[in-house]
Amino acid sequence: MSSDSIVVHETKRLNGEVTVPGDKSISHRAIILGSLAQGKVMVTGLSSGEDNRRTVKIFQQLGVIIKKRGPAEYLLHGKGLHGLREPGSILYAGNSGTTMRLMTGVLSGQPFFSVLSGDASLNARPMKRVVTPLREMGARISGRDGGNYAPLAIQGGKLQAARFALPVASAQVKSAIVLAGFYADGTTMVQEPVPSRDHTERMLRYLGAPLEVSAAGLAVTGGGELKGDLIEVPGDLSSAAFLIVAGLLVHDAEVLVRSVGVNPTRTGFLEILQNMGARIELLNMREMSGEPVADIRVRAGRLTGVTINGAIIPRTIDELPILAVAAAYAEGTTIIRDARELRVKETDRIAAMCTELKKMGADIEAQDDGMIIRGKESLSAAVCTSYGDHRVAMAMAVAGLAAQGETRVEDCACIKTSFPGFMNCLQSLMG
Ligand code: S3P
Repeated sequence: MSSDSIVVHETKRLNGEVTVPGDKSISHRAIILGSLAQGKVMVTGLSSGEDNRRTVKIFQQLGVIIKKRGPAEYLLHGKGLHGLREPGSILYAGNSGTTMRLMTGVLSGQPFFSVLSGDASLNARPMKRVVTPLREMGARISGRDGGNYAPLAIQGGKLQAARFALPVASAQVKSAIVLAGFYADGTTMVQEPVPSRDHTERMLRYLGAPLEVSAAGLAVTGGGELKGDLIEVPGDLSSAAFLIVAGLLVHDAEVLVRSVGVNPTRTGFLEILQNMGARIELLNMREMSGEPVADIRVRAGRLTGVTINGAIIPRTIDELPILAVAAAYAEGTTIIRDARELRVKETDRIAAMCTELKKMGADIEAQDDGMIIRGKESLSAAVCTSYGDHRVAMAMAVAGLAAQGETRVEDCACIKTSFPGFMNCLQSLMG
C-alpha cells in the first residue's frame, strides 16, 4: 500500500467536538491584503494548508517579512500597495488556483517583472478568465496557449480602470480585478451574474479600502491605502463539510465543529443538507474581522434527494463532491445542474466523483454540467483514487465510513493542501 493511501472502515459511531483549519479563501486574502497594508498586521487562525503556505512564500519572495508567532499566528510587516520588490526567481503557486489568479491581479500592477507557475494540475487550469480582463486594463501577461495556461510571465506596470460584466460567477476573477483596480487610474467596476463568495469585499471594508458595493456591482478606485492591525480567520466551512456529512451518514453520530465561518455566500451546502432533512444547528453566532462565525452541530439522520441548481451553485461549489456522497446514501434522486465549473477545478470533479462512487456501487450518472444520483441505503467498500484532488480524497474517505468493508483511497497526500489534520480529526471523533 502506498504511504499516500488512507484506509477507512465502516464506522458505527462518531461523537465529539472538533475544530478545523482556518478558512482557505479568507487565509489567502489575509496574507495578500495584510502584505499590501501599511504597517504590521497580525493574522490569527491562518490555515496551515499547503495552498496558503504558497501565498506566504510568494509574498516573502516579494520582500514582505512574514513571521510565524504561534501555531496559526503570523505577523506580517505590510509594505503598503507600492512596497513590493521584484522577485529573483519564479513564484510557485503549487496546486493553488486562488494564489495564482489573485496574484496575477496584484502582479499586473507592480513596476517589475515576475513569473507565476504551479504544479501539473494548476498549469492545466484555464487562466484566460483573469488574463483577458487584466489585459483590458493594460496588463502585459504572456503564457502558454496565448496566456490561457501558466507559467504566466507578467511585465507589471500602470493600469487603466475598466468595467466588467463577468460571464461566470467567480470570486477568483472578481478578486483579481479588484486587486488590479488598486493600481489603476480611475474606478474599476465588476458585476457578476450571481453572487460568489465575498471575502475580498468584506476584508477590504474591514481594512478601510475605497471599495463600494451596490446593485451595480463592485467599484474600486485606484490609490488609497489599507490599514489594519489584526485579522482573525474563522474555521473553514469547506473543511468542516466533510465532518458534517460524516456526522450525518454514520449511524450513531453527534458532531460539533467549533468556530466555523458561515458567510452567506458560502452556506449553500448547509441549506441544501437542511432541505435534504439533515439535523444541523448553528450555535453561538458571532463575528470575526467582518465575517459571521458559528459552532455547527450535526446529528445523524436519513436524507432525501433534492435538486441543486441556479444561484445556489456558486455558494456551494467546493462542497459538491461531498454533497454527491451524501446524495449517494440519500433516499430518492438528487440532481445537480449548472455546475460545469466543477470540470475545471483541481481535477474534473464531475468525472472523478462519478467514477469513484460507481466503484462503491452508487447509481450516479455524469451530466455535462452536473450529476444525477439515485441514492441507495448502502454502498460497498472499494479501492478508490483522488486524482490528486484534496476534496475528492476527503469525500471518498467519508463515503468509506458508511460503506460495508474496508475502503482504501489512494493518492491522498493532496489532503494537506487544505486540511492536513483531516484523518486525525476523524479518528478523534471515532473515540
Ligand atoms: C475561491 C473561489 C472559487 C472556489 C475556490 C476558492 C476563492 O473558485 O472554488 O476553491 O478563494 O476565491 P472560482 O472563483 O473559480 O469559482
